[in-house]
Amino acid sequence: MLDASDSYVTEDGRTIGGVVMEMKNITLRFGGVVAIKDISFDIRQGEIRAIIGPNGAGKSSMLNVISGFYNPQEGQVFYKGKLRPSMRPYQVARQGIARTFQNIALFEGMTVLDNIMTGRLHHSKANLFEQAFWKGRAEREEVANREVVEKIIDFLEIQTIRKTPVGRLPYGLKKRVELARALAAEPSILLLDEPMAGMNVEEKEDMSRFILDVNDEFGTTIALIEHDMGVVMDLSDRVVVMDYGKKIGDGTPDEVRNNQDVIDAYLGVAHD
Ligand SMILES: Nc1ncnc2c1ncn2[C@@H]1O[C@H](COP(=O)(O)OP(=O)(O)OP(=O)(O)O)[C@@H](O)[C@H]1O
Ligand SMILES: [Mg+2]
Repeated sequence: MLDASDSYVTEDGRTIGGVVMEMKNITLRFGGVVAIKDISFDIRQGEIRAIIGPNGAGKSSMLNVISGFYNPQEGQVFYKGKLRPSMRPYQVARQGIARTFQNIALFEGMTVLDNIMTGRLHHSKANLFEQAFWKGRAEREEVANREVVEKIIDFLEIQTIRKTPVGRLPYGLKKRVELARALAAEPSILLLDEPMAGMNVEEKEDMSRFILDVNDEFGTTIALIEHDMGVVMDLSDRVVVMDYGKKIGDGTPDEVRNNQDVIDAYLGVAHD
């Protein structure tokens, strides 16, 4: 068994660090619906952590608890070794955690570039007064923001569509632009809610490659929800399995694949 502070090297040579986020006995209710029931698990620095399970299992709710967007009624979240208090939306954005959504949430009428720039908003310190009367700081920030965004556009190979309104893009590219916007925040933890849902095989391969490259080149810790088991088994270091709000499995892809509870609840049945 690994200790919380231990690190190890994966078969493909990546270093996974100690625990960066720990969920302890999390319970989340919406009125009478218990979306998450007494779940504990952790996320290690630099790992790709998958959350899987049937529809309605509570996966997206769990991502919202990790991001700090939902405050669970019971349990605690420890982030970088400290108990994390309830947060306001702007605090959620500033803690170094960025995400993409199950349903694409981009500004369809805006260009790819402008959409990605919105990922930098919370990095701007210059206020409206400064922007109007003292241009220096605002201008310097604009230049720095552009540099980060240009690097991401290159990285995700979307130079040719930078001026295209997002509404005109095919689905697979919209998902890539959403990833770009999340990366623009330079997150240390990236949360992806079904980044490959609705994609064809080729689009899935591209997205898998980009997720691996982000993890490898930027050292970004990634938690993702995904239904395609081939993708999950290929990408992730460890997998949490949820069913009806409960955790029914947790371990390496191989451990999870051979877990009878997981096979009975999820892997044995057809799903999208
Ligand atoms: N904002 C909300 N208000 C009320 N109930 C909610 C809300 N969000 C989720 N739920 C309920 O909580 C349960 C878990 O939903 P959640 O979206 O987290 O599941 P999921 O595993 O992401 O499912 P899917 O695979 O369909 O995306 C469901 O019963 C859902 O109806
Ligand atoms: Mg969901």
